[in-house]
Amino acid sequence: MRQQNLFNMNGLFELARLAKMDKDPTTQKRLYLLGRSNNRNVFNALVKELRHKALIEKLDGYPFSPVSEELMLSGIPSNDRIQLGQVKKSAVPFVINLQDLAKHCVIFGGTGSGKTTWLMHMIKQCLEKNIRVFIFDTEKRDYRGIFKIYKEFLVFDLSKNFKFNVMQPPPGVSILQWIITLVQVFCKTHSLLNLSEALLIKEFKIIFQRYGSFDNSGVYPSLLDFYDQITKRYIKGNSNVSRSRDSIVARLDTYLETHADVFDCSTGFPIQELFENNVVIDFGTFTEDQKRFLSSILMYWIFLYRIAKGDKGKGLRNAIIMDEGKFFAPKVNNSSIAFSAISYLYDQFRAYGVGLCLATHSPHYLEESVFVNSYHKVSLSLGTGEENTKIKRIFQMNDEQCDYLGGKLSVGEGIVHCPRFGGEPFVVQVPPFQP
Ligand SMILES: Nc1ncnc2c1ncn2[C@@H]1O[C@H](COP(=O)(O)OP(=O)(O)OP(=O)(O)O)[C@@H](O)[C@H]1O
Ligand SMILES: [Mg+2]
Repeated sequence: MRQQNLFNMNGLFELARLAKMDKDPTTQKRLYLLGRSNNRNVFNALVKELRHKALIEKLDGYPFSPVSEELMLSGIPSNDRIQLGQVKKSAVPFVINLQDLAKHCVIFGGTGSGKTTWLMHMIKQCLEKNIRVFIFDTEKRDYRGIFKIYKEFLVFDLSKNFKFNVMQPPPGVSILQWIITLVQVFCKTHSLLNLSEALLIKEFKIIFQRYGSFDNSGVYPSLLDFYDQITKRYIKGNSNVSRSRDSIVARLDTYLETHADVFDCSTGFPIQELFENNVVIDFGTFTEDQKRFLSSILMYWIFLYRIAKGDKGKGLRNAIIMDEGKFFAPKVNNSSIAFSAISYLYDQFRAYGVGLCLATHSPHYLEESVFVNSYHKVSLSLGTGEENTKIKRIFQMNDEQCDYLGGKLSVGEGIVHCPRFGGEPFVVQVPPFQP
């Protein structure tokens, strides 16, 4: 129906009847006032509202618009198509452009709503398309057994069979650049203030000089060496600097008390090779802050490495899976003492072929940049209250659509929001996962 034909009151009354709103007193009043004012903006707003309601009526109360197969597939080359289930109440497959995974995606859903199953479908499709999958496994350790399904996975338990000298810069990255990155990520993920940052930079420069790293000795101090240096450093009295030193030492203590073996090395595993394989990093017994620091520094490592190599614009190469996203990108209230290191990477990773897929059951506690920078957003069944209100706003849903978040979605069903569909949400069902 074209709008100019509708801008007559008969057409509008007919639309109100189809929407079953013709007997609604508020609508009747609005129609009456419109008949008198002839205001186009009011007319357009009412048409939009009634059209949507008429569509719902046509679909037996189902409040989501249908998606055509033509729109779903448009612009996606056949070898870049990955399918994740199908659009509810239709036979249209839900197809994602593999390359769009580099624009990142986020999956919300309450406990047991099917997040991990969605991620497993994505992992399967990525492997089939030869995209390297990197999984950070946290509390639930859902992925440590994935090699039983997909033999190509290497599983590292970070607290047992891993060697990582965080002090060793990626090949091609200057020592100074690495010092700055390391210090910033360490301080922000451990809520250390500017003074600690300055002290760490100074002390790092001293130790790298001592080891000849600035002069290309190829030898790097370990975290233990650094701990030794900073604990022995004489700092006068009860000053701000000495308090900063104590805070740094307290943070380092937590690493070395429990996991000294992991960091006791001059050169660890070649990190670039991790990203050339399919890998699960199981965080084992590290604390929340440590998980955040280690995952962030690994991601910065590959990012700076690819920059140093000029490795840009080659399409999607890695998908990084972060189930239980609260560990990786928590919402922060004071950005000067804490931040989610990945907020910068969200912006920058795309050009270097790395897509981030994050799942969480608590959108309310998630860093804002994840919402802004995720091209595909999916919400499975969530619950009620604040979480729903947030998703309703972000997905631009109306009340009827939002009701689905609070119990009308079955396990494995998710509302999808993506700019490719003009921001119009629709529901997708994925099947149970089968390897
Ligand atoms: N698409 C689906 N179809 C049928 N059953 C499903 C589907 N997705 C998940 N399930 C079942 O629901 C249960 C929970 O699924 P899943 O582990 O994927 O949820 P989750 O959101 O990751 O849960 P948690 O919050 O505990 O991590 C599993 O037993 C799984 O078999
Ligand atoms: Mg899960």
